[in-house]
This record gives sequence, C-alpha cells and structure tokens, in this order.
Amino acid sequence: MNIAAQSGSTTLKNRRIAFFDSGQGGLTVWESVVGRYPHLNTIYLGDNARYPYGNKGADTVTRYASEAILFLAAQKAELIVVACGTASSVAVARLKQVFRLPVVGIVEGFCSEAATLSINSRRVAVLGTRFTVASGRFEAVLKESGVENVWQRACPLFVPLVEEGVSRGEIAEAACRMYLSDMPDDVDVVMLACTHFPRFAGAIANTLGMLKNRSVVLRSAEGEITLFTSSSSSLSPIVLLDSSSSVLASVETFLGNHANSDEFQGSECSLFCTDAPARFAQVAQLFANKELPEPKLISLGSL
Ligand code: DGL
Repeated sequence: MNIAAQSGSTTLKNRRIAFFDSGQGGLTVWESVVGRYPHLNTIYLGDNARYPYGNKGADTVTRYASEAILFLAAQKAELIVVACGTASSVAVARLKQVFRLPVVGIVEGFCSEAATLSINSRRVAVLGTRFTVASGRFEAVLKESGVENVWQRACPLFVPLVEEGVSRGEIAEAACRMYLSDMPDDVDVVMLACTHFPRFAGAIANTLGMLKNRSVVLRSAEGEITLFTSSSSSLSPIVLLDSSSSVLASVETFLGNHANSDEFQGSECSLFCTDAPARFAQVAQLFANKELPEPKLISLGSL
C-alpha cells in the first residue's frame, strides 16, 4: 500500500484531532481529551457498518483502519487517535509505517502506565476482544516494559452486554465470573483493553472484589474511584486501568506548548458513522456524557 497522507499547513486555529473506533466505544477516550481541552476541534469516526472488529483478522482490520485514516486525513486531521483496542493491537504498527500523518494507538502508553502501577507484583491482566488477545501485542509490550507475568483473557460477551445496557447486576456478573474466575490472585493491575470495558467496570469490580476479597478501584484520566470496598483485606486494591489517561498524555505530547493556547478557538466536533445514524446516536449516548452533534453518514471503501 503506498498511501501518504500529509499533514497540511493548517494553522493552530483549525487544528483537528481525529478519533477513530469500530463503533461508539472510543467516545469515552474522546470525552477525556475534550474534557481536558474543550477548545480543541475534533472529529470522531465510528465504523459501525463493519463493527465489530474484535472477531476479524489483522489484514481486514488494517484495511478498514487505512480507509478510515484516508477519510480523516481528507477532513484535515493532524493527529489520528485509534481508540479501538483491536485496531491498536493488530493494525497501528503497520499504519504508522504507511501514513505520514501521526497515528497514535492505545497500546504503548497504556502498557507503560500498567507496568509502572504493577511495580510490586509485576503481574498484569489484559482483558480485550478475541483478536486483541490473539495478537499478543499487549503481552509483548508489557514484557518489554518489565512486566514479568501477563494473564490475558478475551471477554467478547462484555461488548454486546454494554450495548444492551446490561452492565450491572446478575447477568453482567455471571459473564464476569465466566471469564475471570481463574485470574491469578496476585494480579494488581487489570487493563481494560477494549473501548467498551470501562462501561463494564462496575460488574468487573464487584466480581473480582468478591472472588479475591480485595478492594477494587478504577483509574482513568478523570482520576481514581473506588468501585468495591473489601473491609476484611489488608492487601492493596486491584486497579482497573482504562486507556484514557495514557491517550491524553499522547495528545498532550503532540500538542506540545500549544495545549492550552488561546489559539484553539474552535471547540467544534464532527461525528461520522458508516451506518444507521439514528441507532449510532442512540448507542453513542451510552459512552458520552456530553451532548453530541448529529452523526453524518459516510461510506468507507467498498462495504
Ligand atoms: N472497539 C473494539 C475494541 O476496543 C470493541 C468492539 C469491536 O469488537 O469492534 O477492541
């Protein structure tokens, strides 16, 4: 593939940061970034016509993501944030070679944050889609960062449960027990390596808290909140980690000294989807607390 998408000569005033995901889940990452930098112009594209990516192969996901980046480059994006755990695992390394436009995935910064947090046990769990886990990408980067033991588990059922609004209660916790019962006891950090899993954190925390008799906290760009309190354990809490603070750090690095500049006077967001905009908007509200613009329908490649 010989595609060179070039960063144009846009001024800071119309700089746009683009976010891409297979669907709406990446809006949690988008929201963390615009929450911190409300004056940033942003674009969000969810490829819901070809969703889910989590059970597709690396070549297919790479092709889909390339088509998305070409579209976003044409919208004058200057940075592409791939918020999707699956596309980050199986496609971003290749996309970085092909495109001149900077492309940031969730793997590297996220793994380095997990490695720092797991300093005591050196044992980290990775929860993702089937192909995120099969790619071995998180495991490889965690090991390069000094994590000795990586326990991975594909939890594909969490994705439709979140979209059905079943992210708490009996059914959600039964799904958690099915996937997480054999997680080793000395895991300190659990990486939520799929866009949907932060919305499932309550059920994961209740299940792990009870199984391991430990408190559980969720750590994100918004800070740390306790989701489960164990009164009988003196062990440190298990940390559920989402990718938002590491993505925020990557965006900050890209913006450099201009991050808080008055020159960002846009605060415009354009939302694009590849299928059924009304349904897209409905599901999007599960992932964003802010009011969102109406999604515009586009088509990518040959669907
Ligand atoms: N966005 C995907 C991810 O983070 C989850 C949904 C899908 O399978 O496409 O891996």
